[in-house]
Amino acid sequence: MNFYIGIDLGTSACKGILTDREGRILGEHSVSYPVSSPFTNWSEQSPEDWYNAAVEILRVLSQGREKDVKGVGIAGQMHGLVLLDEHDEVLRPAILWNDGRSTEQTAYLNSLGVLPDYTGNIAFPGFTAPKILWVKENEPEIFAKVRKICLPKDYLAYRLTGVFSSEYSDAAGMLLLDVQNKCWSSEMCEICGITQDMLPTLYESYEATGRLMEEYGLPEAILCAGAGDNAGAAIGTATLRDGDCSISLGTSGTVFLPCDEFNTECGTALHNFAHANGKYHLMGCILSAASCNKWWIKDILDADYGDPAEPKYGQTGVYFLPYLTGERCPHNDVNARGAFVGLSAGTSREDMSLAVLEGVAYALRDCVEAGGVRIDRAVLCGGGAVSKVWQTVLANILGADIYLTKSEQGPSMGGALLAMTACKEYETVYEAADAIVEKTLAVKCDPRLQQIYDRGYATYKKLYPALKEVF
Ligand code: XUL
Repeated sequence: MNFYIGIDLGTSACKGILTDREGRILGEHSVSYPVSSPFTNWSEQSPEDWYNAAVEILRVLSQGREKDVKGVGIAGQMHGLVLLDEHDEVLRPAILWNDGRSTEQTAYLNSLGVLPDYTGNIAFPGFTAPKILWVKENEPEIFAKVRKICLPKDYLAYRLTGVFSSEYSDAAGMLLLDVQNKCWSSEMCEICGITQDMLPTLYESYEATGRLMEEYGLPEAILCAGAGDNAGAAIGTATLRDGDCSISLGTSGTVFLPCDEFNTECGTALHNFAHANGKYHLMGCILSAASCNKWWIKDILDADYGDPAEPKYGQTGVYFLPYLTGERCPHNDVNARGAFVGLSAGTSREDMSLAVLEGVAYALRDCVEAGGVRIDRAVLCGGGAVSKVWQTVLANILGADIYLTKSEQGPSMGGALLAMTACKEYETVYEAADAIVEKTLAVKCDPRLQQIYDRGYATYKKLYPALKEVF
C-alpha cells in the first residue's frame, strides 16, 4: 500500500497528516513552536524549530510503514525570509509574513512605480523583497554573507533532500518573481541588490524535486515542490477553477480565488499570485484571523473554546477591529491595532466573543470589496473553520454559502495531494482533488441575516478611518 505525508508548516505549529491514495487520513501529528517579537511589529522564528518539528512529524507518522511512504508534500507559511551563508548555515532568525519592520523599504519599492510591471504586485512589508532590503540596510555584515535566499518550506525541503528548490505559488509572494511569465525577475533582483544564483530552482508544485535523504529513514519517498500554505489549502479544498473560492481562518485569514489566466482586473488591490495547479489566483489576506479568537478566548478570557451561546447575530452593537498585528489588505498599515467599539453596560462576554468573529469576517469582506469581486460560495478551512457560529457569520457577512471538507486541515491535505500527483497516482492535481475532496454545504446564506450584516458592515467600514490617527 502507498502512503503520503502532507505537512503544513504553519506559524503557530507544524501539522502533518498521513493519507492513503484515496486521501483517507490515517494519522495526524502536530508540533508547536514560538514566534518571537523582540521589537514592536517584528515577527521572527527559528528555522531550526521548523526543521525539528518536521523531522518529528515524519518519524511519528511513518512509524512501521517507512517503506510504504512514497511521497511528501509541504505547504508553508508564505513570504518568510531565510538567509543562508556559504556553508548553508542560517544567518539570522527568519523574518515572517506578518513582520512589519520594513515600512520604509516597502514605500521605496512602491515609489519606483515599476513593481506591477515586473511582478504583477505591489509591495507590502510582510513580503520578502522589502525585508531583503531591510537586512541590506540595517544588517550589512549579515547581508554580505548571504549566498542563498529562501522561503520557509523551501528551507525545509533543502534540509530534507539537499535540493535547493521552490515553486511558483510561494515564490510569487517574494516579489522577486515575474508571476505571469513564471521566472525570476532580473529587474527585481537588481533592485534588491541580489543575484539570481542566490535563489532556488523553480518547479511546478506537483513536480518531484528530489528524494528524502537516507537519514530520514523513508527509502522510497520523494518530495514534491509543494506550495505556499494558501495555494496548498486551495488544492486541499479542491478550489481549482474560476468561480471557486476558499477562505482560510488560520493565524492569518485569506480569501483565495483561482483564475485560469493571469488576471490583473482588480489591479493590485488583491495579490496576483500563481496557483499550485499550474495556473494563477487572486488573494486577499488579513494578518490576524483565528489568532484573534485565540487571543480573546485563551489569553484574555482564559477559557476553553466554544461558540458564543445564543448569538445575537449583527445585533449586539459591538464591533471589533481585528488588527492585532497591523493589517495588510486593504489598509497596508503595520500600525493599525485591534479595538472593541460600541461597548455598553449591557454588553456581555458572549457579545464581545461574537464581535471578534464578526470583526474578522468584516475584514475579509473588506478584501472582497477591495478586489471588486463577488463570491457566491466558499469552502472554509483552518482552525477557525470548525465553529458553527463563525460559519454562519461568514456566510451572511460575505453573502456566500459556506462549504466544508472532511478535514479542516487544507494545507496539509494539499501537500499530500501534490505528493500523490508527483508520484503519478493521479495524472493531474485536478484529477486528484476531484477524486478525493468532498465538499458539503455547512451554512446557506440567509437573506434576513445578510441584510442585518450589510448594515453592520456599513458601520464597520467607518471605524478604521476614524481610528487611524489614534493608532
Ligand atoms: C499570505 C500570508 C499568510 C501566510 C500565513 O499572503 O501572508 O496567509 O501565508 O501562513
